This record gives sequence, C-alpha cells and structure tokens, in this order.
Amino acid sequence: MNIKTICVVGAGLMGQQIALLSAVSGFEVFCVDTSPEAVDKAKEFVAGWLPKQRAKERITDEQVAFVNDNLHFVGSIEAGAANADMVIEAAVENLQVKRAIFAQLDKVAPPHAILATNSSYLVSSKIADATGRPDKVLNMHFFNPALIMKTVEVVQGPHVSDETVETVIELARALGKTPAKVNKEIYGFLCNRIFSVITKEACYLLDQGIASVEDIDNAIKGALGHPMGPLELLDMTGIDLEYHLGMERYRETGNLADKPSPSLVERYARGDYGRKTGKGFYDYHE
Ligand code: NAI
Repeated sequence: MNIKTICVVGAGLMGQQIALLSAVSGFEVFCVDTSPEAVDKAKEFVAGWLPKQRAKERITDEQVAFVNDNLHFVGSIEAGAANADMVIEAAVENLQVKRAIFAQLDKVAPPHAILATNSSYLVSSKIADATGRPDKVLNMHFFNPALIMKTVEVVQGPHVSDETVETVIELARALGKTPAKVNKEIYGFLCNRIFSVITKEACYLLDQGIASVEDIDNAIKGALGHPMGPLELLDMTGIDLEYHLGMERYRETGNLADKPSPSLVERYARGDYGRKTGKGFYDYHE
C-alpha cells in the first residue's frame, strides 16, 4: 500500500473521527470543511479527545505529538487534496453535493489518488462518472463512532478495479479496522440492510402493541446478544435520520413497506429525535 497522506472531506460527526483515527494511525491528514464552525468544533473535539485517551494510556505521547503535527484542518479542497494519496469524503448525504465534490477532487488530487465516499446509502456508481478515474472511486463505509466501531464496508461497484479494492482493504486494516468486502453494489450495503430489517420489525411490534419499548430492547439484548436494543440504537443514530431515509426510499420505490412506521412518524412529528433532543423511544432528561 502506498498511502501516506489522506484527505478527509467534511469535519462533521463522521469526518472529524475518520480524520483523527487516520492521524493516530500514523498518516498525515488534511481535513477539509467549508464551514468554519464545523472546523472549530472538530478542533475542539480533537483537543478534548487526545488528553483523555492519553490519560487512559490508550495512546502514547508520540502519537499525541504526531497528531498535533500531522492533522491539518483546511477550508478548501484545493488545500486539502493537492498531495493526497487517498481521499475519504464524509460530507452531507446529498448526491448533488457529493458529485460536485468528486468532480473538484478529480481536478485537484494527484492522478494516482483513490477517491472514496463514506456515504451510508449512495453507491459510488452514482458518483464515479463525475470523475475521470471511475476505477479509483468506491464506497468505504465507516460506522458511528468511527474511532470505535471495528467494521468498515468496502464496496466493489462494477467500475472499481481490484487494485483499488485491495488497497482500501489494506488501508482499513492499517486503521485498525476489520474490513467487510461487499462484492456488488446494493442499497444499504450489509450492515444497514440487516439493521433496517431488525428496526422495522421492532417498530412493527411496538405499533401493534405486542410489547413495550423496554421489553423489545431487553429481549433482543438478552436473547440475541446485541449490546444495544434496536430502539435504543435508533435513539442514538437519530429518529430524524431514519425518518428521512425511509421517506426517501419510499419516494424512490413507491413501496408502502418502505414508509417509516407510525411509531417513527409520531416521534419525528413531535421533534423527539432521540438522544440529541433528549427524548425518542426513551426519555433522557434525567
Ligand atoms: P455531518 O452533517 O455531521 O457533517 C457533514 C459535514 O460536511 C459538515 O460539517 C459540512 O459543513 C461539511 N460539508 C458540506 N459540504 C461540504 C463541501 N462541499 N466541502 C467540504 N465540507 C462540506 O454529517 P455526518 O453524520 O458526519 O455524515 C457524513 C457522511 O457520512 C454522510 O454521507 C453520511 O451518510 C455518512 N455516514 C454517517 C453516519 C452517521 O451515523 N452519522 C454513519 C456512517 C456514514
């Protein structure tokens, strides 16, 4: 693998953690965000994370010094991607925004650079033709929180070369992750497809009054060994996100089964998005 410099586009929830993870793993990193507030928040996150991890002896003094010297936050793709061997895009989940970013990256990044998207649902074949290097454009999908969750899905769309996939799998391992190779493009890849079946069923059982929120979550934890119940997990990832994804999918397929369930719609309408608003399936105010 010949990757030394990584550019991460987007310094939001996912981008800041992917950038920090890459720097802690020994790569030089340029993290780009067009919003100065997002850059400030990301810097604050890094400044808080490093001493906490050091105090717990999870990272060394050398790693702290390396991150301080090699993790750069910048405001433009020109400044961030000019020397990149690898780009991981983690900007907003919007196809037009991503296509524009990839077209710009294609102009700025060196010709050998691989361009990956961290998109949860947009397959890279919807983006690759915005560039002149489709064989080097693919999905590299981290999970939230990216510093902790082990799995990274690496998706080989029909346009992606074997060499690109092998390099990205190697990179995932160098970041301490366990890559899951997805051989074909499919909506939601592996984990989100399986997660959505479980959450849909959990919401259905709740809607039908078959069991309570607590009993559904406790049953899944106790019987299937999941560390969190599906409804707890929805509160963590955001009921608003789940609602929008369901509506978007429904608009695309016209299939009523893709529509968000009443228990999600109700909470979405009340503004109870989960942990971020203090209430979702559970109440976090206490
Ligand atoms: P976020 O909203 O927290 O961060 C997105 C950032 O991108 C913002 O700071 C925004 O200012 C920046 N941005 C927008 N346009 C830009 C541009 N043209 N150039 C540079 N920066 C730009 O979003 P989040 O949650 O971090 O998601 C990012 C991506 O990761 C999305 O594609 C999402 O589907 C995916 N993802 C999200 C997960 C989650 O749990 N939130 C999990 C796995 C993947």
